[in-house]
Amino acid sequence: MKKRYLVTAALPYANGPLHIGHLAGAYLPADIYVRYLRLMGRDVVFVCGSDEHGAAITVKARKEGTTPQAIVDQYHTVLKDTFEKIGIGFDIYHRTSAPIHHQTSQDFFRKLLDKGAFLEETTEQYFDEIAGQFLADRYIVGTCPVCANPEAYGDQCEKCGSALSPTDLINPKSMLSGSVPVKRPTKHWFLRLDQHEAWLREWINTGVADGKKLHNPADWKNHVLGQCNSWLDQGLQPRAMTRDLDWGVDVPQEIPGSEGKKLYVWLDAPIGYISATKQWALDNGKDWEPYWKSDDTALVHFIGKDNIVFHCLIFPAILKAHGDFILPCNVPANQFLNLEGRKLSTSKNWAVWVHEYCADFPGQEDVLRYNMIKKMPEQSDSEFTWKGFQETNNNELVNNLANFVNRVLVLSHKYYAGIVPAIDHDQDFKSGWETDKTGSYDQELSLLYGKLREMGTEIERFNFREALRVVMEISSAGNALLQFNEPWKTVKDEPEMVKVVLNLALQYVAVLSVAIRPFLPFSADRLRKMLNLGLLRDKGDLLAILNELVEGNPIMLPNHALGQSEHLFSRISDEVIEAQIAKLGASEPASAPAAEPTEIQYAPMKETIQFDDFAKMDIRTGKILTAEKMEKSKKLLKLSVDLGFETRTILSGIAEHFSPEEVVGKQVVVLANLAPRPMMGVESQGMILMAENEQGALSFVSPADGWPSGFGVR
Ligand code: MF3
Ligand code: ZN
Repeated sequence: MKKRYLVTAALPYANGPLHIGHLAGAYLPADIYVRYLRLMGRDVVFVCGSDEHGAAITVKARKEGTTPQAIVDQYHTVLKDTFEKIGIGFDIYHRTSAPIHHQTSQDFFRKLLDKGAFLEETTEQYFDEIAGQFLADRYIVGTCPVCANPEAYGDQCEKCGSALSPTDLINPKSMLSGSVPVKRPTKHWFLRLDQHEAWLREWINTGVADGKKLHNPADWKNHVLGQCNSWLDQGLQPRAMTRDLDWGVDVPQEIPGSEGKKLYVWLDAPIGYISATKQWALDNGKDWEPYWKSDDTALVHFIGKDNIVFHCLIFPAILKAHGDFILPCNVPANQFLNLEGRKLSTSKNWAVWVHEYCADFPGQEDVLRYNMIKKMPEQSDSEFTWKGFQETNNNELVNNLANFVNRVLVLSHKYYAGIVPAIDHDQDFKSGWETDKTGSYDQELSLLYGKLREMGTEIERFNFREALRVVMEISSAGNALLQFNEPWKTVKDEPEMVKVVLNLALQYVAVLSVAIRPFLPFSADRLRKMLNLGLLRDKGDLLAILNELVEGNPIMLPNHALGQSEHLFSRISDEVIEAQIAKLGASEPASAPAAEPTEIQYAPMKETIQFDDFAKMDIRTGKILTAEKMEKSKKLLKLSVDLGFETRTILSGIAEHFSPEEVVGKQVVVLANLAPRPMMGVESQGMILMAENEQGALSFVSPADGWPSGFGVR
């Protein structure tokens, strides 16, 4: 375990507000991770800030007929505010226009120059004679030499992902005046990335740099390693670290030829993490250096996948060339979040803006957070829908979590006047973790301990969706504990048993008040108040309850007086959801390109699984022998299916698509080792695999005619 953590989240460009893609991509995962580390008592600093340089800003200012300064001032405030409202708990939200940042990046540049990290070279670059400006990066567009996309930028083709330089473009055109640019000589400083290729390759793939094992590549996400290696395989070229621009950090004046030159935004922005740490240290009387220079610090960058090359190759090369800095020990980049079947798009207003959400759903910040976590694009792109948002809220937050908490508090007030009952540990009751199992108080506490540890393990592996699922299991088990023991029926005849059940349920709620904290910080606070437990200090609170639980001690002691119950979450109605859907794309700018031709919407890919996950499934060929409608169910057919070695009863949700007569004799493919499930009083012993198209029509998946039953499908 490292001694301290420096966690960064990508500095957002101060040229627009924050949307849900940003949130799910970088900020929420970083926030969960940091909140967890704090709860475990670890030493952690969480930095972010506005990225205020680069073409992103100047192009926006030009479009709006204003100055870059006005743009960054406006959006820096909006961003800072939005992060606060949605509960992203940075230790500092800094900005790259701050003098300390200009100084820090210039010092970096000087040091790199001294160390011979640059190649100074005069090359012919495109120049816009009408605008009187050199055209780098996003100032120039043209046809991609790799994929023929006609709208590739001077630094990158967004269609095929190739890294480009302006001179690679076919038919280049200025973004400023639309004119065809001419070439003029200009001098720049190029980082010798070619000289860094070998060590970067070794470091990325083995975790070893300078003979020291720094991380285990198995802990890095596959798609991150994949992208790095594909860049490395193309060969790294020297890359210009300066630009001919009038907005950005000046190349230090004393350097000959610095006039009119600015640092490349992707040189200064990541150094922004360092300047932010320095400012935080100044504000808090701390020393920033161990966080960046000490081997026992874990440096973790949270970003979206479009930033991988900069954080995994270019910035590490810069840090290494400087010589005094550590390298990141992980870069858990996320993929992209789509919205209602389309890519998020600022220009088409196809987005959910976080500040608008906060205005429309006051007090429901955690509902968005919960949904973003559930849909977090951890391994592959994912999709947010408003319907899904509503269902998740109503089914999981209201029916599971809020319902459990409310039932426990209401019953405790009703039976024990809101005082945690003292108990006799030897009472028998039914555990909520498994049907028909007798529970023991101590065992339940140790199960809770186990769940909290499992949650922590998943968070430390950056599996936030899984971690949240584990937390919700605690709530589900709590609900089942009440359901199985029915205190409302048994309280008269078995008062001692009911005391144990409610005391235990209160322990569950208390554990939840800490366990939800990384994910749902506002609800955690509310819950603490309801329990009269005092707000979390974050510093070590989770560690403290783990220490109690492992000793077999309860979290809430007998005779503790509870507070009043409030609703943690409430149902969201259809009207509210429809209004949000109607809002999408509503203020589409008149100049926006015509709507895209309607494309077939394919469901986003699920997460990558390992071969072992697949191999666990026992899939067999079979044949439907009999079929009948299930009484009282519109959807289900009850089938008997021949698997060769035995006949199974399987309930299949196909009644709205096929009549019983139609399916008898069909050859099918069956998931044969799916745990049997009781449905409407009948046990279903497997699942028939069906293909489904985008309109919801179904087709059987069948082996060739006459294929024998009972054999494997692989
Ligand atoms: N502003 C960049 C973007 O939004 C991210 C900068 S991250 C940093 O894509 F490391 F450079 F700070
Ligand atoms: Zn391309």
